[in-house]
Amino acid sequence: MTGNYNLEEIERLIKNRRSVRFFKKDDVPDEIIQKLIDLAHWAPSGMNAQPWKFVVIKDKKLIDEIRKVTEKGMRFTLKVFTGRALRWRILRSLWKLLQPSKFKTIDPRVLQGMKAHTKQKGAADVFHHAPVLILILGHTGSSTWIEDCSAATQNLALAAHAMGLGTCWIGFTEKFLPLLGSRELKKKLGIDGDWVLATVIVLGYPSVNYDAPVERDNPEIIWFK
Ligand SMILES: Cc1cc2nc3c(=O)[nH]c(=O)nc-3n(C[C@H](O)[C@H](O)[C@H](O)COP(=O)(O)O)c2cc1C
Repeated sequence: MTGNYNLEEIERLIKNRRSVRFFKKDDVPDEIIQKLIDLAHWAPSGMNAQPWKFVVIKDKKLIDEIRKVTEKGMRFTLKVFTGRALRWRILRSLWKLLQPSKFKTIDPRVLQGMKAHTKQKGAADVFHHAPVLILILGHTGSSTWIEDCSAATQNLALAAHAMGLGTCWIGFTEKFLPLLGSRELKKKLGIDGDWVLATVIVLGYPSVNYDAPVERDNPEIIWFK
């Protein structure tokens, strides 16, 4: 089996996948989502424990509820990092004191992203109006659930791209839903006990056609020969 693939095609698939942020309203049929999840779950996992569960959400009300929790977290974080009022400055100083490394390393692009999604008027939808939201839950009984679920997510993203669908990871929900979601909401979503939220991805048919990949910096490679 090894090596019996068309590398050019695989390279084209990997390099042309883009995070899609513009979607058509069209539903994605359940059979297609099933196929994507099948390919996702062929990802490697530590000890082949497969510590994942896939939560597929098409219910607009539920998507909206998760969106609101996410935006609340983004608004709060933005205030902590950039708010001018005294309470935010005090909180910022405390945060710097308690989490100095995190404060120094927050990427300005992340703040920019939060601003784009939380402005009162004309704010961009954090889920980019995608018709499907998929949460991948990890089981903490496996010590490699983060890696395993991330590998599954990338499988899903590549397979979706190959099938003419678009995806976009939503890190903001990954961070804020576990922190700020109500116990009932999380329980409903299966985030309960040993099951934790690993990754979040939106899915739909793209309404844009990207003609070039997003450029990458040259990676640093350290060789020992
Ligand atoms: C873990 C993770 C979280 C991300 N979170 C978001 C997000 O919340 N919103 C968003 O629009 N894009 C998000 N992205 C997409 C990145 O911005 C995107 O992958 C990056 O800019 C490179 O572009 P490309 O995926 O089109 O190659 C996320 C990507 C990853 C891997």
